[in-house]
Amino acid sequence: MSIMRIGVLTSGGDTPGMNAAIRAVVRRGLSFGDVMLGVYHGYEGLMDGRVKQLQSSDVHGIIQRGGTILRTARSEVFRTPEGQAKAMQLMTAYEMDALIVIGGDGSFHGAQALADLGMNVMGIPGTIDNDIGYTDFTIGFDTAVNNVMGEMEKIRDTMRSHDRVAVVEVMGRACGDIALWSAMTAPADIVLTPESPRDWGEAASQLMHNKLKGRFTSMVIIAEGAGKAADFAKFVQEHTDVEIKPVVLSYIQRGGAPTAADRMLATRLGARAVELIHEGARNRALGIHDNHIVDVDIKDSTAHNENYDQSLYDLHSKMNRIY
Ligand code: F6P
Repeated sequence: MSIMRIGVLTSGGDTPGMNAAIRAVVRRGLSFGDVMLGVYHGYEGLMDGRVKQLQSSDVHGIIQRGGTILRTARSEVFRTPEGQAKAMQLMTAYEMDALIVIGGDGSFHGAQALADLGMNVMGIPGTIDNDIGYTDFTIGFDTAVNNVMGEMEKIRDTMRSHDRVAVVEVMGRACGDIALWSAMTAPADIVLTPESPRDWGEAASQLMHNKLKGRFTSMVIIAEGAGKAADFAKFVQEHTDVEIKPVVLSYIQRGGAPTAADRMLATRLGARAVELIHEGARNRALGIHDNHIVDVDIKDSTAHNENYDQSLYDLHSKMNRIY
């Protein structure tokens, strides 16, 4: 079996579980006898040659750590043909047979550009947003939802003590998955997502209704793609006598130790990416579907970037009204 020289980088927003994926890539590669090359600061480092050979000890003790030991970046220069050509030169200099890219939608677009230039690239979906359509889950999403659940508990304690309502803004870019899953599980009384637009006046009426029925502390989750917590709070304050406080969870969602589900997903995807390279596969994006690791052509991986399940939203609406 031939020995490969495999590069690995993380790109875009960091996500809990990226380290678990790096560990899996490196350990599985070493088990084949491969040379594993860690590229620092994503595509920026690929253009500048920030490359280091990784040994087993480099990935020891990282499965439980949030963030990414390889660091990450969002690179404007790499979007240009010149930047991409520079990255190709560097990979040729390092004699890379393949590059594994761990990141989200934007990172996959970068990987597609390298595939067009002749590099063999494998994409591993790492983003808290869960906005990549061909995979049921992306690495980091489960941890982000668990983080939101934990914070909601603390917010609820103080809201209850004052008979207040909270509107909690969560991340996700244009995708409402973090909001919806957190609303189902934390839970929240009302969820506002870009995919299921809801009239704010109607949502405010529901808060009034809850108050009249004796529920003084309602919890609202708003996806960043559906608006700002501060704007919704202002709207409710202007149209009702409900006292409401906006909270923006921000980067708290993206940090911390990955959950078991994310560590497992990252480990399976990372190992499989290396196996695919050894099987002679080219330019694949990996994911999970019905608990099986799947792979699709990386060119098709960004065609459909939604996972949102409207039936979950409908169920949430039915279960969180006071009748
Ligand atoms: O894509 C991950 C994400 O955390 C989004 O949910 C959020 O909109 C964005 O990144 C924040 O980007 P930045 O890290 O550049 O502030």
